[in-house]
Amino acid sequence: MSAPNIETIVSLAKRRGFVFPSSDIYGGLGSAWDYGPLGVELSNNVKQSWWRWLVYNREDIEGIDSSIILNRLVWKYSGHEETFHDLLVDCRECKERIRADKLDLPAGVSSIQEAIEKKLVKCPNCDSTDLTPPRQFNTMLRTTLGAAAEEDDPTALAYLRPETAQGIFINFLNVQQTMRKKLPFGIAQIGKAFRNEITPGNFILRTREFEQMELEYFVRPDDEHFKLVDYWVDQYVGWYTGLGINRENLHLHEVPQSELAHYSRRTVDIMYRYFPERAEEERQWEELMGIAYRTDFDLKSHSKNPETEDGKRINQDSTEDLSYFDEAEKKRFYPHVIEPSAGVNRSMLAFLMDAYSEKTNDKGEKRVVLKLHPELAPIKTAILPLARNKPEIVGMAKAIKRSLQPVLRAVYDDTGGIGKLYARQDEIGTPYCVTVDHQSLEDEAVTVRDRDTWEQERIKVADLQGHLLTRLASARAEQLVNGE
Ligand code: GAP
Repeated sequence: MSAPNIETIVSLAKRRGFVFPSSDIYGGLGSAWDYGPLGVELSNNVKQSWWRWLVYNREDIEGIDSSIILNRLVWKYSGHEETFHDLLVDCRECKERIRADKLDLPAGVSSIQEAIEKKLVKCPNCDSTDLTPPRQFNTMLRTTLGAAAEEDDPTALAYLRPETAQGIFINFLNVQQTMRKKLPFGIAQIGKAFRNEITPGNFILRTREFEQMELEYFVRPDDEHFKLVDYWVDQYVGWYTGLGINRENLHLHEVPQSELAHYSRRTVDIMYRYFPERAEEERQWEELMGIAYRTDFDLKSHSKNPETEDGKRINQDSTEDLSYFDEAEKKRFYPHVIEPSAGVNRSMLAFLMDAYSEKTNDKGEKRVVLKLHPELAPIKTAILPLARNKPEIVGMAKAIKRSLQPVLRAVYDDTGGIGKLYARQDEIGTPYCVTVDHQSLEDEAVTVRDRDTWEQERIKVADLQGHLLTRLASARAEQLVNGE
């Protein structure tokens, strides 16, 4: 079977309650999506798995949850107010708004400005060459704070964070001191981020509201920072492949110097093959996550009157010096940072695409089987009665479901024949189906069916919880070993 494209996943996601277009009854809101009953479970599982891997499973990482709206000065000193821009071009003909970096620069022309003036580039929507000169567009989403705030009152202006990272930097000393951390150590955070993307699209790949899982890993200034970037790249490749992503669908992209973000000295993007249907291989990839070496840029920028290399961002507003005191050497310095930054939504899409498979049953019918890692599966087990008109069987199945629900996500379903019920669970990735049949009433045992092999085994009801938990725990343990 060829790999699924994003459209296959959009249709499955909508049909089975993973993701719905947001505000649909009012005509939608460009590229906003709502997560349905299964989508929210998958998203929570991705986040919990990441958290467990980094915060629980290691000694050197702590978690935080900072505010979405921070003091505006955070964005002044982080450099986002000044540099978090996209170049925007308007088509005068069809009014399409285009990100200038998405226009193909013809050979022999040095800038997009020149290409537009000479009418050498076309609007991707209507082919017109009547385009406005490019202008800077800050992609931070604005809001105003306070009941009395006027729309244009600059003192009330605030931003919805465009990255969760800054909430970590401004809490660096709080975490370091309260948890008595010594370098190297990391701070992890999961949360919403917002960007006024000019051209959102491709389902949940590029949206204006999304979620990030970010780690700021603080190290000594004299560490081997480029090697640490490679270390974290390997860690994340291990984490994604441990959770079921095929290594062939991941690709490492060394971001060229000219394209680095304002804070980065080196960035490696882990790309995922989101567009397998595209003929040219280089067009199949899109960024899944990035691992950046941010130097000591952020801690210095947020510190009261630090010495900055370029002397540009001398900070008179901060009340703190965010340098680190090294007890052993009795000296102060600003730690450097390696930052692996992953998108929850892009990770979910990659997990869904990689898990999608089709299988033909013995009646020759095509079935979709979503081979999600058990750790990620929205529903861990479905309890299915073989006969829904037999009160004893139904009663026993419901009692089993009730006994399992405090420890794992279990559902009960009796709305079809068993073949149909299995197919439904396969399509949403439920790893274990439990069937209660006539025999169960006599031998107090049930059939546990494996999603991937369709093999069945008979398990005593008294052992069922232990059996399922052991299988889930060993799948998790295997994944954590892979992710190390
Ligand atoms: N703190 C660094 C940072 O934010 P980034 O490369 O701009 O770096 C990190 O973003 C990750 O966040 C991306 O690799 C992607 O997974 C996710 N992301 C960024 N913009 C996004 C958007 N508009 N929609 C969905 N995910 C996005």
